[in-house]
Amino acid sequence: MISFVSKASFDKAAALVLLTSAQAAAADFTSPVKEVSAAVNQVLASGKFDGGKGEVFPLVAGNCLILLAGLGKEADVTLPSLRVLVRRALLSSFFKKIADIEVIPHKDGADVVKALIDAHVIGSYAWKKYITRKKDDKTVEHKHLYLAAARDPEYDRAIKIAQSVNFARDLVNENADVTSAVYLEKTVRALVKGKSAVTLEVLGRKELEAGKFGLILAVNRGSSKEPRLVIARYNGGRKGDPYIALVGKGLTFDSGGLNLKPSGSMETMRSDMSGAAAVIGSLRAALALGIKKNIIFAFGAAENAIGADAYKPGDVIVGYSGKSVEVGNTDAEGRLVLADVIAYVIAKDKPSRLVDIATLTGACVVGLGHDYAGLMSNNDALADALAASAAATDDRAWRLPLYPELKDMIKSGIADIKNISNQKGSAGAMTGAEFLHQFVGETPWAHLDIAGTAFVDGDSRMYFGHGATGFGVRLLTDFIGKN
Ligand code: BES
Ligand code: ZN
Ligand code: ZN
Repeated sequence: MISFVSKASFDKAAALVLLTSAQAAAADFTSPVKEVSAAVNQVLASGKFDGGKGEVFPLVAGNCLILLAGLGKEADVTLPSLRVLVRRALLSSFFKKIADIEVIPHKDGADVVKALIDAHVIGSYAWKKYITRKKDDKTVEHKHLYLAAARDPEYDRAIKIAQSVNFARDLVNENADVTSAVYLEKTVRALVKGKSAVTLEVLGRKELEAGKFGLILAVNRGSSKEPRLVIARYNGGRKGDPYIALVGKGLTFDSGGLNLKPSGSMETMRSDMSGAAAVIGSLRAALALGIKKNIIFAFGAAENAIGADAYKPGDVIVGYSGKSVEVGNTDAEGRLVLADVIAYVIAKDKPSRLVDIATLTGACVVGLGHDYAGLMSNNDALADALAASAAATDDRAWRLPLYPELKDMIKSGIADIKNISNQKGSAGAMTGAEFLHQFVGETPWAHLDIAGTAFVDGDSRMYFGHGATGFGVRLLTDFIGKN
């Protein structure tokens, strides 16, 4: 929980005081409580804490534990570094057993406050559902933060968006056998229940068969579970205004199929529905914020499993669009599912713009790493708008080129198109995008490849702990709000 207090009061159990190195050197910290100012300034004057980046210093004034946290040189304080440092301080052992913490920012400003909100709400998230040995752990999980800043509707929005990020993370972190296509459908149903602005269309196996969604069905054939195509039409804007469509890849598990992934590559593949999770999280945020736009939130959900009925390398499959696709590799399944969803949404709703978000390629991880998603588009204005939202929200994205020659790389001798490139090992992120491009027609479209950014496989990265990051919720929510 977060509350706003008009000024630092130091009547809480603990306080986190953020200081740049210049502020630390000046040693004239002022608080309304004299003993606090004296105690802080005494430490600063002693030179034991100089505000260096990442430095922390605990002291006690009255009955308040005060943690001084150094941000380094003012010029080097960026919003991402602020999120990282504040998260680290809030999770430090000093605050382990303390629920109420007041945070004194180093300076005023809406950007600073919003970064502190992210640091707390996104930064303190941890997936602990299945940890049973917490008997002796006295750590206080749910902190109440008191931010020394005037309350603002903008901050309430930032809190709701950050909570929607965590909502998406829960979906990704949960076991793949729990977060099935049907579970994702139920999640959306629960979100939109009683909301007259949203109409829901859900296609199950029967409807997918009747509608000739051959690609979604093929990918799901090895699974014991049902696939789903879920479309939530959110009518927050004027009647008749075109939709912006968001389309997510929802592979509830990607084993690779008969082109089975090796050990080491499969363990995190419950995260292969992170695109769908980002779309669902954005829907939650749109509802919470009451965004006044017409938006389609859609995803295709399937499981890429193996079994006697699994689709096979070399198969040629016709999907919703009518194009035939040669399956060069059953592990390039995300583009198959997305092709059916994209073709359907465009045929049915003619959105003004379509953005897909998908853990699509390992190649994107090789090229851009884990901190930047790949952004590819057939439309500069759309790509620029998404890049601006990416920069504003710290859901970082970097544009990669699409160009006519890529189409030659996904040519097939036996079908209209092939789901892998004929030039193995090169331009994998872009040929994956080019495959999708072949299903969008003239619609302004952009593709976010989040294979590297959706999941932290390790201790932590930036201000995310192990597991899902909820990448895309902040970016997409910002984008649909502004465009
Ligand atoms: N889901 C994977 C991509 C992925 C890789 C996501 C690593 C997250 C982390 C996708 O379905 C896949 O397997 N892609 C193949 C495509 C190849 C066969 C053309 C890949 O990247 O190896
Ligand atoms: Zn795959
Ligand atoms: Zn996949």
